[in-house]
Amino acid sequence: MSISHKPVIVIDGPAASGKSTTARRAAKELAWLYMDTGAMYRAITVKVLRLDIGLDDKDTIATLAENIDIKLEPVEDGVRVYLDGDEISEEIRTPEVDKAVGPICEIARVRECMVDLQRQLGSAGNVVAEGRDMGTIVFPDAPLKFYMNASIEARAERRRIDQEKKGIKVDLEALKADIAARDYRDSNREHSPLMAAEGAIHVDTTDLTIEAQVAFIVGQVRALESDQKN
Ligand code: DC
Repeated sequence: MSISHKPVIVIDGPAASGKSTTARRAAKELAWLYMDTGAMYRAITVKVLRLDIGLDDKDTIATLAENIDIKLEPVEDGVRVYLDGDEISEEIRTPEVDKAVGPICEIARVRECMVDLQRQLGSAGNVVAEGRDMGTIVFPDAPLKFYMNASIEARAERRRIDQEKKGIKVDLEALKADIAARDYRDSNREHSPLMAAEGAIHVDTTDLTIEAQVAFIVGQVRALESDQKN
């Protein structure tokens, strides 16, 4: 198989597996583009909530997705997200969006639009694409595919620390239940369920630091680049 000199590499995995931070930092170290595909599904969700469209009105939501203007602008510590020209980088992380994004990202026509957009963004190459279906559906020919996971305890503990930094006190058991419910929903949905792609390198991040995860990904990319030269 010939490998593009400007590849797209992919990182998939469940919520709180460490993939977003790792993907963002690896992209920064490589000076590549970081593609946060969860942010794209969150952006549609913001629009649906702003327009007060019912989550069961799939046709209206799909039509909205077909006409949406989403931009991801890379910045020093991640990406800024714009919806119809309006910055929504913070709004996409609210609990309301957390709750509504699940049913919205399950709509087949919404996924088709996002897949098109993701492939367009990836077409220039040198991209770290992160999500749930990057290796299985969007970029199945990626020369490097990673699937990150960690124990539910470790993932809940990470979420607890994140929330406490924001001054929010949360119950660890409730977090575990919430993560398990999201895992179930992501893995059992009809369209593009979360699963490791064929040929994916599994990375268990339970006992790994972010630095070690980034070093591993960057090391694999460097090895790929050096193989291409030889
Ligand atoms: O990674 P995240 O929490 O920002 O993702 C938000 C939601 O979008 C989550 O419910 C999973 C979904 N998602 C998806 O279905 N496919 C992707 N490629 C990325 C995210």
